[in-house]
Amino acid sequence: MATIYVKDRDGVDHVLEAEVGASLMEPLRELDGGAIEALCGGMCSCATCHVFVVSEWYAKLPAATDDELELLEGTECFNESQSRLCCQVKMTDELDGLQLTIAPEE
Ligand code: FES
Repeated sequence: MATIYVKDRDGVDHVLEAEVGASLMEPLRELDGGAIEALCGGMCSCATCHVFVVSEWYAKLPAATDDELELLEGTECFNESQSRLCCQVKMTDELDGLQLTIAPEE
């Protein structure tokens, strides 16, 4: 397990455990209120799992695919140095301590 630090849409901080090898989406969609919708279930087709990863952690993530980037660039609050679709981020031991904010609902 890896620990992640999450600020939800209400500005409330959460400390969550994420399973290494699984998608970052999984623990985030368990959050009550202020959580991601993940409407497509992780198929990289909805962008409702948009998060802003703190810059120092963003640099440690594998690069986004063209499909992910295309969806992100279509969101109103896209931030090229922080935006990711959490369904496309696979948790690793190196991401223990990851910090992120859930993007506003669109
Ligand atoms: S859950 Fe739909 S794009 Fe991530």
